[in-house]
Amino acid sequence: MGIDPDFKKNRQKVGTHSGHDVYGPVESPNKLGIHGSVVAIDWDICNADGSCIPACPVSLIEWNDTPGNPVSARKADPAREGDCIFCMACQNVCPVQAIKVTAP
Ligand code: F3S
Ligand code: F3S
Ligand code: ZN
Repeated sequence: MGIDPDFKKNRQKVGTHSGHDVYGPVESPNKLGIHGSVVAIDWDICNADGSCIPACPVSLIEWNDTPGNPVSARKADPAREGDCIFCMACQNVCPVQAIKVTAP
Protein backbone atom coordinates (compact mmCIF):
# COMPACT_ATOMS: atom_id res chain seq x y z
CA MET A 1 0.00 0.00 0.00
CA GLY A 2 1.21 3.46 -0.88
CA ILE A 3 1.26 6.75 1.00
CA ASP A 4 -2.06 7.79 2.57
CA PRO A 5 -3.36 10.64 0.36
CA ASP A 6 -5.19 12.02 3.43
CA PHE A 7 -2.08 12.03 5.61
CA LYS A 8 -2.58 15.68 6.57
CA LYS A 9 -5.91 14.77 8.18
CA ASN A 10 -4.89 11.40 9.56
CA ARG A 11 -1.47 12.24 11.02
CA GLN A 12 0.00 14.87 13.27
CA LYS A 13 2.89 17.21 12.53
CA VAL A 14 5.69 16.22 14.85
CA GLY A 15 8.47 18.50 13.67
CA THR A 16 10.38 19.93 10.76
CA HIS A 17 13.37 18.83 8.70
CA SER A 18 15.30 20.93 6.16
CA GLY A 19 12.48 23.48 6.03
CA HIS A 20 9.56 21.07 5.53
CA ASP A 21 7.07 19.48 7.92
CA VAL A 22 7.36 15.92 9.26
CA TYR A 23 4.19 13.93 10.00
CA GLY A 24 4.41 11.18 12.63
CA PRO A 25 4.50 8.79 14.21
CA VAL A 26 8.28 8.85 14.35
CA GLU A 27 10.23 6.28 16.37
CA SER A 28 13.69 6.48 14.83
CA PRO A 29 15.17 4.42 13.26
CA ASN A 30 12.25 2.01 12.81
CA LYS A 31 9.44 4.47 12.02
CA LEU A 32 10.32 7.71 10.24
CA GLY A 33 6.98 9.22 9.17
CA ILE A 34 6.20 11.40 6.16
CA HIS A 35 8.51 14.23 5.02
CA GLY A 36 7.01 17.23 3.24
CA SER A 37 3.56 18.75 2.76
CA VAL A 38 3.57 19.79 -0.92
CA VAL A 39 5.88 16.98 -2.04
CA ALA A 40 5.21 14.37 0.64
CA ILE A 41 7.38 11.25 0.80
CA ASP A 42 6.52 8.41 3.17
CA TRP A 43 9.84 7.30 4.60
CA ASP A 44 8.27 4.10 5.94
CA ILE A 45 7.43 3.08 2.36
CA CYS A 46 10.43 4.50 0.43
CA ASN A 47 12.83 1.63 -0.27
CA ALA A 48 15.56 3.79 -1.87
CA ASP A 49 14.60 2.86 -5.43
CA GLY A 50 15.92 6.30 -6.41
CA SER A 51 13.91 6.87 -9.60
CA CYS A 52 12.33 10.05 -8.24
CA ILE A 53 15.62 11.91 -7.89
CA PRO A 54 16.69 12.18 -11.57
CA ALA A 55 13.01 12.39 -12.63
CA CYS A 56 12.48 15.78 -10.99
CA PRO A 57 13.13 18.60 -13.50
CA VAL A 58 14.01 21.06 -10.74
CA SER A 59 16.14 18.59 -8.73
CA LEU A 60 14.42 19.28 -5.43
CA ILE A 61 14.65 15.71 -4.06
CA GLU A 62 17.86 14.69 -2.30
CA TRP A 63 19.15 11.59 -0.51
CA ASN A 64 19.05 11.51 3.27
CA ASP A 65 20.84 8.73 5.15
CA THR A 66 18.67 6.71 7.55
CA PRO A 67 20.99 4.11 9.09
CA GLY A 68 19.23 1.30 10.92
CA ASN A 69 15.89 1.66 9.16
CA PRO A 70 14.57 -1.81 8.33
CA VAL A 71 13.26 -0.83 4.88
CA SER A 72 16.30 1.08 3.55
CA ALA A 73 19.35 2.96 4.80
CA ARG A 74 18.59 6.08 2.80
CA LYS A 75 15.43 7.94 1.84
CA ALA A 76 14.35 10.48 -0.75
CA ASP A 77 13.91 13.87 0.95
CA PRO A 78 11.83 16.71 -0.60
CA ALA A 79 14.55 19.13 0.38
CA ARG A 80 13.24 22.18 -1.48
CA GLU A 81 9.56 21.33 -1.95
CA GLY A 82 8.79 25.03 -2.53
CA ASP A 83 10.48 24.75 -5.95
CA CYS A 84 7.97 22.13 -7.20
CA ILE A 85 6.38 22.89 -10.57
CA PHE A 86 3.86 20.03 -10.22
CA CYS A 87 4.98 17.97 -13.18
CA MET A 88 4.08 14.88 -11.10
CA ALA A 89 7.01 12.87 -12.48
CA CYS A 90 8.20 11.79 -9.03
CA GLN A 91 4.78 10.55 -7.98
CA ASN A 92 4.34 8.64 -11.23
CA VAL A 93 7.79 7.05 -11.26
CA CYS A 94 7.96 5.73 -7.69
CA PRO A 95 7.46 1.94 -7.85
CA VAL A 96 6.06 1.74 -4.31
CA GLN A 97 3.80 4.84 -4.40
CA ALA A 98 5.66 6.53 -1.56
CA ILE A 99 5.09 10.07 -2.94
CA LYS A 100 1.98 12.28 -2.89
CA VAL A 101 2.20 15.72 -4.51
CA THR A 102 -0.46 18.29 -3.61
CA ALA A 103 -0.54 21.85 -4.92
CA PRO A 104 -0.86 24.26 -1.97
FE1 F3S B 1 11.97 6.21 -2.57
FE2 F3S B 1 10.17 5.95 -4.43
FE3 F3S B 1 12.03 7.77 -4.65
S1 F3S B 1 11.13 4.29 -3.33
S2 F3S B 1 13.77 6.91 -3.60
S3 F3S B 1 10.45 7.71 -3.09
S4 F3S B 1 11.24 6.52 -6.29
FE1 F3S C 1 9.75 17.52 -9.04
FE2 F3S C 1 7.82 15.89 -8.31
FE3 F3S C 1 7.44 18.48 -8.22
S1 F3S C 1 9.20 15.61 -10.00
S2 F3S C 1 8.65 19.25 -9.89
S3 F3S C 1 8.90 17.33 -7.03
S4 F3S C 1 5.95 16.97 -8.85
ZN1 ZN D 1 12.95 15.72 5.22
